Amino acid sequence: MNRDVIIACDFPGMKETLSFLDHFEGEKPYLKIGMELYYAAGPEIVREIKKRGHKIFLDLKLHDIPNTVKSAMKVLKDLNVDMTNLHAGGGIQMMEAALEGLTPASGERQTKLIAVTMLTSLTNEAMNNELLIPGTVPETVMHYAANAKKAGLDGIVCSPLESPIVHEKIAPDFITVTPGVRFAGGDVGDQKRVTTPAKAKELGSNFIVVGRPITKAENPVEAWKICMKDFAE
Ligand code: C5P
Repeated sequence: MNRDVIIACDFPGMKETLSFLDHFEGEKPYLKIGMELYYAAGPEIVREIKKRGHKIFLDLKLHDIPNTVKSAMKVLKDLNVDMTNLHAGGGIQMMEAALEGLTPASGERQTKLIAVTMLTSLTNEAMNNELLIPGTVPETVMHYAANAKKAGLDGIVCSPLESPIVHEKIAPDFITVTPGVRFAGGDVGDQKRVTTPAKAKELGSNFIVVGRPITKAENPVEAWKICMKDFAE
């Protein structure tokens, strides 16, 4: 299966994003647009970046009743992004409705749909005592991944460390999109469990999402090229 590096464009607006992209000249890295940038710049940022020839993962993490998510996905379908996502916690019916919304009348869906399982910011204790979900986080992740597969989704967001078991237990072609990647010896920031691009490749991740190690690098293009070399080649 294909592997690619997705740069997380965690910028406050259109201006900052486009001036970051200007460094790349002829290169067209795969980009992630998250809530901050989308809420600031709206669908126009997606159209502008697409016009420049980049692939886009629109990371908006939808979570609502099935009818509302389906209607929202219908709108996102027309943006023609390469991948978008939702929270598996919304349930199987919500995930099925989302897929329906994202599928055009021709039946040929362009946008891959993946699920966020448990947020990595939640501890096992919070999951048990606040959310009243028993068991361990990895058990919940695998259960939600199985629900996403049942609903017909294409994959999940997870840690690179979970990629092997997801491919083994859910399906070898179930896409794993994995944040939490750092260069060896690099600044970890607020990420808790990190792997290098080379390790993520070894573990079988399909996409790595890399933010600050590229966006805050002295030479972002060089940092991206190193990631691509270590992970995607
Ligand atoms: O800067 P950094 O490489 O840590 O950025 C990782 C990106 O992946 C951020 O956009 C963050 O929101 C996202 N993400 C994450 N962990 C998750 C889900 C998404 O770090 N579990």
